[in-house]
Amino acid sequence: MTAPILQMRSISKTFGAVRALRDVSFDVQPGELHALMGENGAGKSTLMKILSGAYVADPGGEILFAGQLRHGRGDGIAVIYQELSLAPNLTVAENMFLGREGRAMSLVRRGMLADRAQPILDRLGVGFSAQTPVWRLSLGERQMVEIARALTSDAKLIVMDEPTTALSTRETERLFDVIANLKAHGIAIIYISHRMEEVYALADRVSVLRDGIYIGTVDRAELSAARLVSMMVGRDLGSFYRKEWSAP
Ligand SMILES: Nc1ncnc2c1ncn2[C@@H]1O[C@H](COP(=O)(O)OP(=O)(O)O)[C@@H](O)[C@H]1O
Ligand SMILES: [Mg+2]
Repeated sequence: MTAPILQMRSISKTFGAVRALRDVSFDVQPGELHALMGENGAGKSTLMKILSGAYVADPGGEILFAGQLRHGRGDGIAVIYQELSLAPNLTVAENMFLGREGRAMSLVRRGMLADRAQPILDRLGVGFSAQTPVWRLSLGERQMVEIARALTSDAKLIVMDEPTTALSTRETERLFDVIANLKAHGIAIIYISHRMEEVYALADRVSVLRDGIYIGTVDRAELSAARLVSMMVGRDLGSFYRKEWSAP
């Protein structure tokens, strides 16, 4: 095994009375797709917001990225959030480079941005141009812009939080091709999904959270639906079916 690109150690997060995460630890290897699973409210998004620096964890934990202690935001990690975060009045290209390029832009600058954005959009196979204002796009197309934005940074780790929810079958296939390409370039991906078939298709390893607690990590070779479900719900599938569906 090579050195992990990411190690999260003893991460906890409390929101008032809610303990969203308790002492969660897990690691990610370079070039692997690490799926993160768990029922709604398990703490997946909170863990990723701590990783990106959007939330501050409770004291006591640490994050090591590329061997370095990390505090708050920093380079090398791109996050595609579940909630879209685009500016509807700006173009696709402006949204892709927003934050790195500032807001007041000349026409020339805009053209240059579009030139940089277009090849990335072509790679994603989208049917709109870099100059399109985002308000004209469908939800699925906006999600593709979010993904394109992540590809503009030279991230070593990309977090995708339920990326296919709004995508068509065709867009999903494109995304999977891009994911294979990223992995081939040694880029690690943390992929949050509750869709078992996606996890089967993509994951090298799967980690499971339940009620803010890290339950465990399963290798691709040991993946089974029964195992994952029992890790997520906290009892084995047999007793689950008996409890839910047998006559009293
Ligand atoms: N900003 C917040 N303020 C208060 N509670 C929050 C906040 N964000 C998340 N939570 C709570 O933390 C828990 C984990 O939520 P979340 O990380 O969104 O779970 P998941 O992404 O696995 O569905 C839930 O109980 C949720 O209600
Ligand atoms: Mg979530």
